[in-house]
Amino acid sequence: MRAAVFQRYGPPEVVRVAEVPRPEPRAHEVLIRVEAVAVTSADARIRGARFPPGFGFLARLVFGVVRPRRRILGSCFSGVVESVGSGVDDFAPGDEVCGMTGTRLGAHAQYLTVAAKRIARKPPEVFHEDAAGLLFGGTSALCFLRDKASVGPGVTVLVNGASGAVGTNAVQLAKHLGAAVTGVTSSGNADLVTKLGADHIIDYAQDGLSTVEERFDVVFDTVGNLSIGSGRRLLNTDGVLILAVAGLGDTIRARGKVVAGAAPERVEDFAFLLQLAVEGEITAVLDSVYDLDEVADAHRRVDSGHKLGNVIVRPQPR
Ligand SMILES: NC(=O)c1ccc[n+]([C@@H]2O[C@H](COP(=O)([O-])OP(=O)(O)OC[C@H]3O[C@@H](n4cnc5c(N)ncnc54)[C@H](OP(=O)(O)O)[C@@H]3O)[C@@H](O)[C@H]2O)c1
Repeated sequence: MRAAVFQRYGPPEVVRVAEVPRPEPRAHEVLIRVEAVAVTSADARIRGARFPPGFGFLARLVFGVVRPRRRILGSCFSGVVESVGSGVDDFAPGDEVCGMTGTRLGAHAQYLTVAAKRIARKPPEVFHEDAAGLLFGGTSALCFLRDKASVGPGVTVLVNGASGAVGTNAVQLAKHLGAAVTGVTSSGNADLVTKLGADHIIDYAQDGLSTVEERFDVVFDTVGNLSIGSGRRLLNTDGVLILAVAGLGDTIRARGKVVAGAAPERVEDFAFLLQLAVEGEITAVLDSVYDLDEVADAHRRVDSGHKLGNVIVRPQPR
């Protein structure tokens, strides 16, 4: 099979398409023909070995100290079950599924093996590209806003980085939960973020966050330019600060009304997001869709720091 392989940490050019053996599913795994897979900001971080301050050493222990241990990136995929391991009875060849592979990665390929407990059925109404695009930002926005900050009707939420993969989901989910949403974005993306449900827009190029007078019940930073100190300044008393890109120091200090750390990858959350997509409550915002041969271009787009929602790769020949 063909896969996007990288042998060393570095710029987008280190990722190349190569022939590699097709994996075989173990007893509790399924083999999936990948139809669409996201190139996420996390994939680009791992490829470039660029981790939030203080996390470099820990991350390299997981992903490979000198060279990448996992040679194929990619975790948020959608595809079709090709075969199942001997211990799998809830999925069968032909089922349309999507999921996340966690730190095992491996989804930037034509085929992927993954534990059956890590996948959800993809409703026919949701395209593969949209399913692959929803998972990365959707699961983190859901965990932080619904589970950690208990966002509900009447709550005011500021989403910093409202046009990224996490931000576009955060705006829509906060709105779905009944919140009044302010999105921080650039003027070029203001219309999109408004369409996604933001009631107010702050243009970060015009009005820096340090000049904002308003206070919010929840501040969700998906950019990484807020600290515990600067984020708290934007909060009402008892407000919740969510730092999705905290360095090690703020992650250790985060407790109570300050939330940091990694969001979990839960199948029930995948199913919840997919159902919202079926109902038209959320949409996957797609920046661009690339063929597997263009995977380095996909990484370049992610590295720009200005993608709009999600960058998707289609590994199967068209
Ligand atoms: N903790 C967790 O579990 C978790 C989970 C998922 C992701 N993350 C982290 O969350 C971060 C965001 O991920 P992502 O994939 O959503 O990023 P992304 O899609 O790459 O973000 C790009 C977007 O950020 C906007 N942006 C750039 N600078 C900005 C600024 N100063 N103010 C406001 N918006 C700005 C850009 O808009 P313009 O083009 O208008 O500049 C662009 O639309 C990443 O660092 C990722 O590692 C954490």
